[in-house]
Amino acid sequence: QRLELELDRIEKGGYEHFMLKEIFEQPRSILDSMRGRLELEAGHLNMGGVRAYERKFVNADRILIVACGTSWHAGLVAEYLFEDLARVPVEVEYASEFRYRNPIITERDIVIAISQSGETADTLAALELAKSRGATIFGVCNVVGSSIARATDAGAYTHAGPEIGVASTKAFTAQVTVLTLLAMIVGHKRGALTDTRLRELMVELETIPAKVEKALELNTEIMQIAEIFKDSTNFLYLGRGYNFPVALEGALKLKEISYIHAEGYPAAEMKHGPIALIDENMPVVVIATKDSSYEKVVSNIQEVKARKGRIIAVVTEGDTVIPAMAEFTIEVPATSEVLMPLVSVVPLQLLSYHIAVLRGCNVDQPRNLAKSVTVE
Ligand code: G6P
Repeated sequence: QRLELELDRIEKGGYEHFMLKEIFEQPRSILDSMRGRLELEAGHLNMGGVRAYERKFVNADRILIVACGTSWHAGLVAEYLFEDLARVPVEVEYASEFRYRNPIITERDIVIAISQSGETADTLAALELAKSRGATIFGVCNVVGSSIARATDAGAYTHAGPEIGVASTKAFTAQVTVLTLLAMIVGHKRGALTDTRLRELMVELETIPAKVEKALELNTEIMQIAEIFKDSTNFLYLGRGYNFPVALEGALKLKEISYIHAEGYPAAEMKHGPIALIDENMPVVVIATKDSSYEKVVSNIQEVKARKGRIIAVVTEGDTVIPAMAEFTIEVPATSEVLMPLVSVVPLQLLSYHIAVLRGCNVDQPRNLAKSVTVE
């Protein structure tokens, strides 16, 4: 018994839960996912798995992304990345829907399957279907030699290391890192990304692990916010642009481990429904970092405030406008709009973690959920 406890403690590296350990490992896992790929000094980007398929990526009519859960959210971030940086049309599909609706797939399509475990049954079946119709399949998996990794034509592993907590954290940021590198490579090859812009993004990407480290310093502050909202029964998460998938991911994290009902929404869609839910009991987490939709998000915050919603805003360091409006503000380091999800998701992971712990939930093994879903 004592030995078991001791082993457990060692495995968790001094953290109370695997999830917290994994959240804190992100500066490292992001770096590991870029290692050997982002070579700033030499000035190039390498991805072994892409080389042989470079022409396919350059000539692709579109990219289809299939995934489930958190990996699907990473896919949504990738949609913004590929359309923005590489000018390739992208569709992001729930693997379970895609596989059963007789989708249109051609040989000029590239299908990217994203999966931490590499064993998710729906994702595997979706890629097998696309493969049978002649598409090129590219995998982004964390587990080496997993079923999905083996079924693809090519791929790039995330190097997040083993993820034990059922709620995915470091695997998500590793996926987004790899997909960012891929979008940069493809964008450059397709001529959509100039040398200068590519260089700027490379320089900025290299600073991300340090910025995530900085975001992790918010831990105590976030714990205090969690204390205030731990008994809420609903949460709304809002974001626009690159932060929209982050809103979805923040809401999913909270649902998964604290069993609080939470919804993520594109901030502007709020007026088409969720605004009806807002009253003085509704916490609204708004991801409102300084980017091209900042002014619009500020107006969305005003709309929430006018209905007495309780605003928790994730903002860029130094913002003076939103702190004057929100009840709580969480400041994250500035970065390029394109890379912000890697930073802005961190406080949301911590918020859900602390709320779940305060509610006495089993954070690492939430009820009814499995780490990898190998059945339909
Ligand atoms: C399960 C896990 C989620 C995960 C999803 C997809 O639902 O609980 O954390 O995001 O499966 O898993 P995958 O291994 O394919 O990324």
